[in-house]
Amino acid sequence: MKPTILAIESSCDETSAAIIKNGKVVNNIIATQSVHKKYGGVVPELASRAHQQNIVPVVKAAMDDAGVTKKDLNAIAFTRGPGLLGALLVGTSFAKSMAMGLNIPLIEVNHMQAHILAHFIDDPKPRFPFLCLTVSGGHTQIVLVHDFLEMEVIGETQDDAVGEAFDKCAKLMDFPYPGGPLIDKYAKEGNPLAYVFPDTEMQGLNFSFSGIKTAFLYFLRDNKAKDPDFVTKNVNDICASLQHSLVRMLMQKLKRASNETGIKEIAIAGGVSANSGLRAELTNLAGEKGWNVYIPDFQYCTDNAGMIAMAAHYKYLTGHFSPLDVSPEARMKI
Ligand code: KG4
Ligand code: ZN
Repeated sequence: MKPTILAIESSCDETSAAIIKNGKVVNNIIATQSVHKKYGGVVPELASRAHQQNIVPVVKAAMDDAGVTKKDLNAIAFTRGPGLLGALLVGTSFAKSMAMGLNIPLIEVNHMQAHILAHFIDDPKPRFPFLCLTVSGGHTQIVLVHDFLEMEVIGETQDDAVGEAFDKCAKLMDFPYPGGPLIDKYAKEGNPLAYVFPDTEMQGLNFSFSGIKTAFLYFLRDNKAKDPDFVTKNVNDICASLQHSLVRMLMQKLKRASNETGIKEIAIAGGVSANSGLRAELTNLAGEKGWNVYIPDFQYCTDNAGMIAMAAHYKYLTGHFSPLDVSPEARMKI
């Protein structure tokens, strides 16, 4: 049976709902919370409140748009974690109530698995086994994907996530949150070799991004002491150089992972996979290394319920359902 599933995502600052029908994601409605901009980061309490306000209209929009009524639904899926606990609670409680009210199965989804399974929404789809560099505001991992629901983390950050490094460096330049997309925008006009930031050497396939953040702090401090307008005058070159360094650190480990495993099916996922520098570098490497590269559509890079729906579809087919007393997990392994 090919199920019709309503999927809900509420792990951070996007409230999203999607419908999957016969294995096809029909829509992907996302309400972005702008309330966090002025605080320089996501404020958990405000995120929970905004989810509470958005969830009913967002779910209604997804169902109306797909022409689906409650009696057409075969299951309700939701993000169980990882994420902000208060934010996750909103989606979890909503999904449970709906599954209970309609007397249909409940399906929990791991947010990081879902970022990877977003590759199965559209063609071309990666072939198993493949490597996925999963890069978001909270995670930086290299995942060996054996099958839809069988994944192994073979490398990860030991401190900050790369998205966090983008956002924290952006904040040091007084950019609003999230700063990653703005760094990307300015970087397009700048010289990536204008400034050099040191890499932090990490063992094996692991990453570290706290060093570059500190180096960037001192770099700005020293240059602003000489010229208070340093950032304004050189914003394009600063962003291009910073982005170049962060992308280089990611690529070094991804190349190593491919060499060590012999796998040439390579995907990227998560919010930072929207970065144009990362996308371009991966495309270059595809030619150079003979990799088959999979880059998600922009709407499926950052948080969205389409990817939760895709993951839920495979869980439904394999009978992975959740009890009604399931609770969200802020920290949840792949
Ligand atoms: O996956 P995501 O939407 O949420 C988490 O699960 O964290 O990722 C959000 C992260 C933020 O750090 C944001 O700055 C970053 O993705 N991001 C980008 C770009 N678009 C989003 N970073 C660099 N360049 C971009 N174009
Ligand atoms: Zn995410």
